[in-house]
Amino acid sequence: MASTNIQPNFNNSTQFIAGWYWALPSKKLKVGKVKPVTLLGRNLAIYRGFNGEVKAVDAYCPHMGAHLAEGKVEGDSIRCFFHNWKYDATGKCVDIPSLEKPLPVCIKTWETAEKYGMIWVWVGENKPEQLPFIPELEQVECDYMLGTKFIKNCHPNVLLINAIDAHHFNTVHNLPLEIVFDTQTLNNHAITFSNTTRGGNDSWFIRLIQPLYKKEVTYSMCYWYGSTGTVTLGPDFLHFYIIFTLRMIEGGKTEGQTILITPKRHGIFGKLINLILLWLTQRVGNYFAKGDTQVFETIKFNLQTPTKADQSILQFIHHVNQQKSLKWETWQTVDDINSKNIQTQFQPNLLEYKEHEFKV
Ligand code: FES
Ligand SMILES: [Fe+2]
Repeated sequence: MASTNIQPNFNNSTQFIAGWYWALPSKKLKVGKVKPVTLLGRNLAIYRGFNGEVKAVDAYCPHMGAHLAEGKVEGDSIRCFFHNWKYDATGKCVDIPSLEKPLPVCIKTWETAEKYGMIWVWVGENKPEQLPFIPELEQVECDYMLGTKFIKNCHPNVLLINAIDAHHFNTVHNLPLEIVFDTQTLNNHAITFSNTTRGGNDSWFIRLIQPLYKKEVTYSMCYWYGSTGTVTLGPDFLHFYIIFTLRMIEGGKTEGQTILITPKRHGIFGKLINLILLWLTQRVGNYFAKGDTQVFETIKFNLQTPTKADQSILQFIHHVNQQKSLKWETWQTVDDINSKNIQTQFQPNLLEYKEHEFKV
């Protein structure tokens, strides 16, 4: 294979990691309705059957190419608007009104799931793997609220590393705390970075918050498929949870959505408390999102000169580059030969941070 074909996944606008991607909020797709969704360059029709289940299919009808989101949901099937061919839940054509028997054609279907108020689509040829979750809340029933939807002028990978860019917490967000991350791999698609420091006594802010933390200050980020990040932060007695779920759009830019989460509390007071907590969570998320906005409009990401504080970023880049990827728009698998070459080519540089000698 020519070396010009070898491309790492990180910050790459032509390919992305096979995984779960958000498509649209659950609330926006009522029973019996169909919506057009463009996901990672590919056009889909996503509908909710009368049994409540969500189906995602390739958009274009194999008869003449009409967009199936113009069509009509019937039971758990979809009927094309143009000449009324009907496709069942598995994508098989089951009725052609002008013919006695349907033709052996089908539309490609994609696995879907609903979680945290969002419809997710599994983009990949293999069996779906785990949906993104917050490690602390894996087995916990939760309340959630969709937060802000946003577009950013940079790649999702670049936006996500902001949460583990240790140094910028001081320079941009004025946090007088040295954050040092410990890394834990959950599985091939999920990696967690957790703060290990408690902070010094030289700052009034740290002295103020220290009683709230028995050990280190809780701040951790779990990345899924290089595109969804789940944040856990707050004092020991109250953790806030925010999901930043991103997807790449045309030109390697980002379309994202925040999801605010809190463990379910029962009763009328529980509901009220959760409403307040979710509102507070949104404030916390917005505070951190705001400070960086300008940078992501103009950045041309190129980590040429990593310092010790950038170690976590290098680890994330390595984690992203190791995962299987698909081509933008066609969703074809980027072949294994390429991936192996990427590992041997890029691993040594990325795994180890080396102090640079600065020359005058
Ligand atoms: S284009 Fe869909 S039935 Fe003809
Ligand atoms: Fe930031």
